[in-house]
Amino acid sequence: DHTHADTLRTPIVAVLGHVDHGKTSLLDTIRGSAVSEGEAGAITQHIGATDIPLDTISGMAGELIDPSDFDLPGLLFIDTPGHHSFSTLRARGGALADIAVLVVDVNDGFQPQTEEAIDILRRTGTPFVVAANKVDTTPGWNPQDGDPIQKSMDAQSERAKSMLDENLYEIIGQLSDAGFSADLYWRVQDFQKNIGVVPLSALTGEGVPDLLTVLMGLSQRFMKEEMAIDVTGPGEGTVLEVKDERGFGATVDTVVYDGVIRNGDTVVVGGQDEPIVTEIRALLRPRPLAEIRTEKEFEKVGEVGAAAGVKIAAPDLDQAMAGAPVRVVRDRTVDQVVDEVKAEL
Ligand code: GTP
Ligand code: MG
Repeated sequence: DHTHADTLRTPIVAVLGHVDHGKTSLLDTIRGSAVSEGEAGAITQHIGATDIPLDTISGMAGELIDPSDFDLPGLLFIDTPGHHSFSTLRARGGALADIAVLVVDVNDGFQPQTEEAIDILRRTGTPFVVAANKVDTTPGWNPQDGDPIQKSMDAQSERAKSMLDENLYEIIGQLSDAGFSADLYWRVQDFQKNIGVVPLSALTGEGVPDLLTVLMGLSQRFMKEEMAIDVTGPGEGTVLEVKDERGFGATVDTVVYDGVIRNGDTVVVGGQDEPIVTEIRALLRPRPLAEIRTEKEFEKVGEVGAAAGVKIAAPDLDQAMAGAPVRVVRDRTVDQVVDEVKAEL
């Protein structure tokens, strides 16, 4: 019984979509506007993930969000690559996510990896919103940097507006062909039945306040119960990547979605042949950007609680697999946890 220690963790948001449709730019913009809000320090750097606290989100979303409506601590974004060769990483990101943003270039519409991402989201039952990106490339567009999208649309010529509308309805049609009923997000009453489409530009930031608002609303309404975790329980996570690091050997970049992982913990990690039982030698986080030039790339931390990204250094990780589970043993037997990990593979 964990109830006494339960706390709401940060929902994990995967950003998925076809190559070059603007996933990384969107996250850069979210990070960048947080920096220009003077809240750079509030943003925690993670391995493969970006944690944006509620206060920062509410600062960016302006009039669209009343932070007192929410008790989730923020959003943890995971970027994924769009190139076709990275399908495992996309599948992992999608399976791990509580919710997702499907980024679609408003001019290009659905492309092969858009379809692939949709299949992952359907298979895993992950709720998602569509970011119809690059609205600023609409001919004649009059950019309204950082504004909510409806305000920005009011500032456009009839011609630009109708060209954008045409592209948006194309995407809504493609979603319908894929079996999802969708509409522009402000027309959606029930986000469990309909997919919300948020027109935006990662370049100018217009529509980004809307996206953050919709994501917070979705998480708060549908995820809250799943977000209640025992923050002191044995850590659980998923390997995103296995990487060699100088001085550490093979390490696993991990997203922790439950409990806490501590330095020195015995962990079981899914491996290519069989589960790997090992002891954590270091938990590593990237240093803040400004320090990277002068210091080593990573700093060691004593523990990491969900939800977070972290690099785990431990012996024998070279056989670890992307997508494999990571489980802290703590107060159970190693055999029990090995069985748990086997059952998940
Ligand atoms: P992969 O990681 O390779 O799958 O691509 P990605 O989806 O992360 O795309 P990325 O953010 O790297 O953007 C690809 C290109 O599109 C870059 O040149 C960006 O500058 C450009 N781009 C992204 N968003 C926008 C936008 O809203 N407007 C305009 N005009 N260009 C954009
Ligand atoms: Mg990218």
